[in-house]
Amino acid sequence: MLNNLKPRPADKILVLSTLFRADDRAEKIDLGVGVYKNAEGHTPIMRAVKSAEKQLWNEEDTKTYTSLPGDAGFHQAMADMVLADSVDRDRISFCATPGGTGAIHNVLETIQAAHPDTTVWLSNPSWGNHQSMLNHLGMKSVSYDYFDAEACAVDYPAMLASLQGVKEGDVVLLHGCCHNPTGANINNTQWEEVAELLLAKGAIPFVDIAYQGFGNGLEEDAFGTRLLASKFPEMMIAASCSKNFGIYRERTGIVMAISADAETAKVTQQTLSHMNRQNFSFPPDHGARLVTMVLTDPELRAEWAAELEEVRTGMLALRQQLADALKAETGSDRFGFIADHRGMFSRLGLTEEQVIKLREDNAIYMVGDSRINIAGLTQKNVPIIAKAVAAVL
Ligand SMILES: Cc1ncc(COP(=O)(O)O)c(C=O)c1O
Repeated sequence: MLNNLKPRPADKILVLSTLFRADDRAEKIDLGVGVYKNAEGHTPIMRAVKSAEKQLWNEEDTKTYTSLPGDAGFHQAMADMVLADSVDRDRISFCATPGGTGAIHNVLETIQAAHPDTTVWLSNPSWGNHQSMLNHLGMKSVSYDYFDAEACAVDYPAMLASLQGVKEGDVVLLHGCCHNPTGANINNTQWEEVAELLLAKGAIPFVDIAYQGFGNGLEEDAFGTRLLASKFPEMMIAASCSKNFGIYRERTGIVMAISADAETAKVTQQTLSHMNRQNFSFPPDHGARLVTMVLTDPELRAEWAAELEEVRTGMLALRQQLADALKAETGSDRFGFIADHRGMFSRLGLTEEQVIKLREDNAIYMVGDSRINIAGLTQKNVPIIAKAVAAVL
């Protein structure tokens, strides 16, 4: 049986990590995999999360299963953080999942269960796993124009023009904030216009929000998601806690599905619970419990929000430093967009050959499409990177 399996292409980012680890040059710089790192190159456990963990160790007296869709306290805390009061709570159905990826998977299967023929629209480009999960499930997908590769900014007129092709009942996947891989995002006025267009088309928005708090701030980053939730009769949301709580390996995510009314929401809830049961049964609870404690305890929440803000402003400062250093090295504003982008990534607009040259000659590792992880920048390596990038142009 197993000898019938076909080799699968390896994930490009994971291949890059392997190459990085195998490189014995002391000066090597990792701008590849999408994990937050501090100035020492370490991915720390956030202070409030560590405190919550200590408290939980003292207080937790059972490890029996949680409920099938996860803990209700987690659902409500996440709805508070992502949706606030944009939509009536009795229209939302929930399930806790292993990470944001688990949430995306359950959303897609729920769409499939409702209408197997549904077309899902993805931005071009999008997070690589979006397309690959759609393929894995055998779902129809179309891409909409999103990124102007020359200007390294959102090509908004092209995006609107593409979305004109959306048909009633199509699902349109939007990144809630901090677009991965480009770092380029639509502004609030554009969110309003996109919402109006998709409403007129009878589309169902599906928001993937994996970096809330990494862009313009915790509340600001939820603007688009809340706007859509306040307007659409139906909407799907997959939220990840991996990055903004720094609990990557705890695998913590959630589906929030908005139905047209409370009655429908009950049936949607049964379907979401069913998806959990079929895919992995009860969801992991440790990370979800930590998130709930952090979000609902005023002291822990204040400490977490302060650290998240340090992370966010630290990345903004690094963006500015790299944009300035590149301006000094190249004598042009070509890389000014780095300071305007938001989130953990920016796509530099280099060719694949230039990316390989940087890796081979300078031990600077970035994804083949020239996406860099801003958190991989440091005060020390920014001038080195700027000089090397200017040299390959
Ligand atoms: C856009 C986007 N969505 C979802 C995820 C899933 O995150 P996780 O499954 O690690 O929570 C990621 C992670 O890189 C992402 O970039």
